[in-house]
Amino acid sequence: MNKQQIKICCIGAGYVGGPTMAVIADKCKNLIIKVVDINQKRIDDWNNEDLSCLPVFEPGLAEIVGRTRNKNLFFTSKIEESIMESDIVFMSVNTPIKQKGIGAGKASDLRWVESSARQIASASVGHTIVVEKSTLPVKTAYTIKNILNSYSNNESGKTPKKTFSVLSNPEFLAEGTAINDLLFPDRVLIGGDNTKAINLLRDIYLNWVPAEKIISTNLWSSELSKLTANAFLAQRISSINSISAVCEVTGADIHEVSKAVGTDTRIGAKFLHPGPGFGGSCFKKDILNLVYLCNYYGLDQVANFWEEVVKINDWQKDRIYKIIVEKLFGNLANKKLSILGFAFKANTNDTRESPAISICADLINEGAKLVIHDPKVDEESIIGDIKNYLRNKNLPFYDCGLEFEKDIYNSVEESDAIIILTEWEDYSNLNWQKISRSMRKPGWVFDTRNIIQIEKVKSSGLNIWCLGVGI
Ligand code: UDX
Ligand code: UDX
Repeated sequence: MNKQQIKICCIGAGYVGGPTMAVIADKCKNLIIKVVDINQKRIDDWNNEDLSCLPVFEPGLAEIVGRTRNKNLFFTSKIEESIMESDIVFMSVNTPIKQKGIGAGKASDLRWVESSARQIASASVGHTIVVEKSTLPVKTAYTIKNILNSYSNNESGKTPKKTFSVLSNPEFLAEGTAINDLLFPDRVLIGGDNTKAINLLRDIYLNWVPAEKIISTNLWSSELSKLTANAFLAQRISSINSISAVCEVTGADIHEVSKAVGTDTRIGAKFLHPGPGFGGSCFKKDILNLVYLCNYYGLDQVANFWEEVVKINDWQKDRIYKIIVEKLFGNLANKKLSILGFAFKANTNDTRESPAISICADLINEGAKLVIHDPKVDEESIIGDIKNYLRNKNLPFYDCGLEFEKDIYNSVEESDAIIILTEWEDYSNLNWQKISRSMRKPGWVFDTRNIIQIEKVKSSGLNIWCLGVGI
């Protein structure tokens, strides 16, 4: 690369693109990084002077953006110009599950990846390294290369003016801990077949990641490793959730079982927390992608094996909702239920695939009135998520079934039950005596995250159901 200063463009200013580029900018002051997005509002939000209003909430992110923004990190909607002047272009656009056509419900919708590849192909100048940051189906790099090369050869007979190297550099960051995961990654994976391009990207990471943590593979191994890592993580959650149901009927305690199992160093303790089911933008999408890939290659047994992980996850949400209905005498009409937490996990404002969506929607469909509290999620997202879920099931949505409350104690007044769906710290140390006094009797507490002290709830006179604990 014959340029003095390496310039980077990242297409997609989302949960992945924004934090990833912010950390790279902070660690590599010599790079110029432009994060672009087709969504002007997103860009405006990233440029908001008030750092508490950034479009993505991640602990530590605002400080980093404050240090780097408009120094060597820029958020802009000038997509073509930013691509044109860049040596490296990261693709960090969304890759949701396809809604219709071949592979609907399983395959990734690659329309934005393809349009980004065309944008890069058309606007780039000289040699450009294109990096897949989004999680993609195996062999997507082949499609990207195909599109890019069709532009590079457009002047027949002459030396192509545009050349490209495609690398796969999947993200392994989890929301809520994204900054820490970026600063101290377990590994950085770079897949590709061009050693010069791999080394250039590797040199960027070497600014803060130890060399032994940077793994180089071929393109397909890198793409498949990302899907496999997420599939394995999700599989552990479905495994422990399946056992949580066995605990409830046998009198075993899922925490004791989880601890006993996880202390085996061959198994390990992480990702063995029982809960209402995994959410987030990646796990379900990536497993279904793997399932689609296996079916495509005729590996139906493998596909079925992984599909069960998603089925158990849906079953866990469904059985929790049914337990709530059963404990409240099989009738939710005119009952007020307080929902504590709507984000798919704590420390994020993201609700994508949150287990709270189906649980809340199913409770509303039973006639319950819900009062929802979440410290970070806004009302608009919650209403949109619930509406979508009900619409997809051809069920009606009534506004009157939903209220929002920013104060936890106000939210539980006169309610018949409290249902904890996200493990926000605020919920772990509540004044249960005070809460009990303000609820209708017999009052119930359903803890799907196991964050409350059971004895304190019991002594307040409330009934309690805890996931995976036969009480
Ligand atoms: C996305 C993918 O969903 C995930 O699979 C992958 O691992 C990383 O990228 P995320 O960053 O969480 O994850 O998505 P999102 O927050 O939706 O951000 C994507 C951004 O790309 C959006 O702001 C969208 O406006 C933008 N975009 C999309 C473009 O700028 N151009 C496009 O053509 C399409
Ligand atoms: C995940 C992967 O961890 C990350 O490496 C990848 O790049 C993107 O997908 P994320 O979805 O942000 O990250 O969150 P994660 O912490 O993995 O949690 C996913 C879901 O699993 C959450 O709903 C969480 O509550 C649930 N979970 C996690 C459990 O129910 N039990 C656990 O033990 C761990």
